[in-house]
Amino acid sequence: MTILVTGSAGRIGKSLASALLDAGEQVRGFDLRASGLHHARWQEVVANSDDPEAARSAMRDVRTVFHLGAFMSWLPQDRAKLFAANVEGTRIILDAAVEVGVEHLLFASSGEVYPEGAPEFLPVDESHPTKPRSAYGLTKLIGEEMVRWAGRSSGLPFTILRFSHTQDATELLDPESFFSGPRFFLQARIRQQEAMGNTANVTALRAIDDGKPSLVLARNERGRPFRMMITDTRDMVSGLIAAWRSGNTIGETMNLGATDPVCFAEALPEMARVTGLPMRMVDLPGPGVFYETSNTRFRTLTGWQPQFPFHRMLEEAAIAWQAKQTS
Ligand SMILES: NC(=O)c1ccc[n+]([C@@H]2O[C@H](COP(=O)([O-])OP(=O)(O)OC[C@H]3O[C@@H](n4cnc5c(N)ncnc54)[C@H](O)[C@@H]3O)[C@@H](O)[C@H]2O)c1
Repeated sequence: MTILVTGSAGRIGKSLASALLDAGEQVRGFDLRASGLHHARWQEVVANSDDPEAARSAMRDVRTVFHLGAFMSWLPQDRAKLFAANVEGTRIILDAAVEVGVEHLLFASSGEVYPEGAPEFLPVDESHPTKPRSAYGLTKLIGEEMVRWAGRSSGLPFTILRFSHTQDATELLDPESFFSGPRFFLQARIRQQEAMGNTANVTALRAIDDGKPSLVLARNERGRPFRMMITDTRDMVSGLIAAWRSGNTIGETMNLGATDPVCFAEALPEMARVTGLPMRMVDLPGPGVFYETSNTRFRTLTGWQPQFPFHRMLEEAAIAWQAKQTS
């Protein structure tokens, strides 16, 4: 029987598909883009998840679905695309899964279903109110509700996993990385904030930019350094497989991610040390980013433990950085 991985050309989906193939499974991918994977037990459907016919053909003989396909954007102009991919796309995947009687659907939700920018208490656990602040987080919360509804109305067995922020270790020190570029590199952050129309942030950031490549330690308006969860893709993949195999996650909604938060006041000086880049500091308007999320429930239920904490990711990122400088 086949396992379907949607979002199979993406960061987590491709890595998950490879791990399942390595474990001897028959795997099918479904993504807008080809994954580049080649294997005797691998097939893929390259299509938009809002295409019901494509979703039906992807679902043939499928027992397990990892629904990871989604669009991630925080730009106001991307709203329509977000809802099409993450809400309508999820509805179509769910309908197709119910039609073939899938035995387990695991849904990639997000920590952004919580108000991560303004948590009511820390660490954020599953009892925290879900009040997304981004449109992306809202589409994930609607996705969760649709999954739970498919469980209630059609008996679809499901697990909802609220993913922490996740990236490949080597992305950490890549100024072109979608995530780490704007998070850690000054010029990339300026470009991102300009695109988002955050003029107050752009002004604060431009004031410390001397035009030379540099890292930026972001703090809030009171000088509190940012703090957040960052999870290695490999841990997310082993967590997904643990959630599937453990057999006691059906009907659960749980946080999945690293155990310890990353404090930027510690991470940025270390990044500056390994790259040799200067580190600038900026106090941005507003409360800033300051949260940590509990993975206790997931670890207790499955026995899973993450293997790639931030310091290990950074060691690998530093090696990749050095290799790039000498190539
Ligand atoms: N990476 C993170 O920090 C993070 C955090 C929380 C949740 N998530 C969720 O985890 C999942 C995987 O994340 P990722 O980091 O691998 O993202 P990614 O952007 O690398 O991969 C997502 C994949 O989905 C595909 N996709 C997008 N719209 C589609 C559509 N309409 N039809 C078919 N395919 C479509 C994209 O082509 C892409 O390959 C997503 O659901 C994401 O929302 C990720």
